[in-house]
Amino acid sequence: MELLKQRIREEGHVLGDKVLKVDSFLNHQIDPVLMMEVGEEFARRFADAGVTKILTIESSGIAAAMTAALKMDVKVVFARKKKSALMNEEVYMTKVHSFTKNETNEVTVLKKFLGANEKVLIIDDFLANGEAAMGLAHLVEQAGSEVVGIGIVIEKAFQDGGKRLRQHGFKVESLARIAAFTDGQVQFVEECVQA
Ligand code: G4P
Repeated sequence: MELLKQRIREEGHVLGDKVLKVDSFLNHQIDPVLMMEVGEEFARRFADAGVTKILTIESSGIAAAMTAALKMDVKVVFARKKKSALMNEEVYMTKVHSFTKNETNEVTVLKKFLGANEKVLIIDDFLANGEAAMGLAHLVEQAGSEVVGIGIVIEKAFQDGGKRLRQHGFKVESLARIAAFTDGQVQFVEECVQA
């Protein structure tokens, strides 16, 4: 998605050799116009998947999931990383370890919002090691529903999450795929293929 890549080039800050900071439009401040385009692109790419529900994880996945849901006319549920004091009903739970943050969260979703026989599209902002997406897929499995696709805004293709999810048989669509950070610059996968 060219517009997204342009924003990453213009506003992204590379931290070390593994992390991209995009807090001006995705991870802190949110650009709603860009997010609408992101949602429309996900809706286009998964138009034939028969999606009945979108599942994401708090917090930065919510904006993209919301605009995709609007376009696909389905509800969006976000899994919680910390159990709300008000969540005194039955939940599905899985543990998700973040290598980036070096912490493990018990990720939960209320059973009443993730029923059986749904066709679920998982959406998240970043794909690194694939832990969050695998955890969300595990919640869907517990509910007796099917993951029909995984939509990622920014995939760091040099980490093994994408490979892991695709090997598992999931259809993964990433709107921007980063091959490497070279001298503080973002190199997209397509640019490496052309080089
Ligand atoms: P994984 O799920 O693919 O295994 O990724 P990992 O655990 O390594 O990532 C954990 C958190 O770090 C996630 O956010 C993920 O979106 C974020 N993250 C990973 N790599 C990058 C990166 O290069 N840049 C930025 N900006 N974020 C990255 P989170 O903990 O869920 O935070 P939030 O959604 O509440 O913002």
